[in-house]
Amino acid sequence: MNLDDIYSETIMDHSQSPRNYGHLDHPTKVTGLLNPTCGDQIILELAIDADIITDVRFSGKGCSISIASASMLTQAIKGKKIEDAMSFSYNFRASITGMEANIDLGDMEALRGVSQFPNRVKCATLSLNAFEKAINDL
Ligand code: FES
Repeated sequence: MNLDDIYSETIMDHSQSPRNYGHLDHPTKVTGLLNPTCGDQIILELAIDADIITDVRFSGKGCSISIASASMLTQAIKGKKIEDAMSFSYNFRASITGMEANIDLGDMEALRGVSQFPNRVKCATLSLNAFEKAINDL
């Protein structure tokens, strides 16, 4: 498999028109993470009410894979209970490191091919790492 092969229409759509890009007026938690290999950064803002992620935005700069992944993640976790969103994040991480995911990954299924390219796994997991850190630091 060639790296170009993983740039599907779904990935390009999310990277060119990222969903939930921007800022929340009153975030409950803001967490930024850097990919040390390239210097790119994703900042995630979460609004949490009780144990529900009621809203989410992200900002920052990164490659197509990191932006697409952040866009897809925000779409997937919005409206979910924290534990379900964390479970989604763990399953997505498993799928892009070559393991089986136990849930429907939706659009994030398009990023499975990244598992063939270890350097790009860091790009795809940047937003997941920011999300999991945000929740673990609550
Ligand atoms: Fe920097 Fe992908 S090259 S996040």
